Amino acid sequence: MPIVSSADDEKRLAAEAAAELVESGMTVGLGTGSTVAHLLPAIARRGLERIRCVATSVATEEQARELGIPVEDFDSLTRLDIAIDGTDEVTPDGWLIKGGGGAHLREKVVAAAAERFIVIGDSSKPVDALRGPVPLELFGFGAASTLERLGADVELRDAPRSPDGGVIADYRGPGLDDPASLAARLEADPGVAAHGLFPPDMVSAVFVARGDAVDRTSFS
Ligand code: A5P
Repeated sequence: MPIVSSADDEKRLAAEAAAELVESGMTVGLGTGSTVAHLLPAIARRGLERIRCVATSVATEEQARELGIPVEDFDSLTRLDIAIDGTDEVTPDGWLIKGGGGAHLREKVVAAAAERFIVIGDSSKPVDALRGPVPLELFGFGAASTLERLGADVELRDAPRSPDGGVIADYRGPGLDDPASLAARLEADPGVAAHGLFPPDMVSAVFVARGDAVDRTSFS
C-alpha cells in the first residue's frame, strides 16, 4: 500500500472539489504541478462531454491526454470558461506566488484568459505575507544582459528552458511587502517575460484543503 502524505491527500481533496466546477461544453485551462496532477484524474472521472482544454505545460498535456482529456493548442480559443491551478503561496488578500515548477508564464496567460481562475492547494500554501522567491521567466534573447541589469537580487535557476525558450530565474530581493509595486518594477524590465506574482483581481477563488475539509475563499 503506497504511503500517502497528508499534504498529498489535501492536494487531492482541493483538486477534487475544483473538478466539480467543470461542466460539459466548457473551455478549460489546466495548470501545472503536483496539485494539478490530482485534478486531471478527477476531471477525467466526471465523464464530461465536449470539453475543450488547454494545458500550461508539456507534463500536464501528456497526463491529460493519457487520461483521455482532450487538449488543444492555445491558438484558436480566445476565452476560457475556467482555469484551475496550484500555487506556491497565497495571502489572505489573494496575492499568489506561482512558478515553483517554472510554468508561470503559460499559467498567467491561461489565468488571464479565464472567466474564473480557481486556485487549489494544501494547507501549507496560505501565508500571512509573501515570502518568495518570485520566479521569473526571462526572454532567451539577451538573457545574460537582462540578468546583469536585474543584479544580485536575481539568481539563475538550474532548470531547463521553458517551452517558449525562456530562461527561468528567481528574484530574492526586497519589496514583497508591496507586491503590486514589485510586480510593476519587474514588468518594467523589457527582458522579463513573466514573473510569478499573480494579483488578487486575477483570482476568482482559492480552495485550500485542511485535513478532510476544503476552505473556499472567493475574490472576484
Ligand atoms: C508551476 O510552475 C507552479 O506555478 C505550480 O502551479 C505551483 O508551484 C504549485 O505546485 P504544486 O501543486 O506542485 O505545489
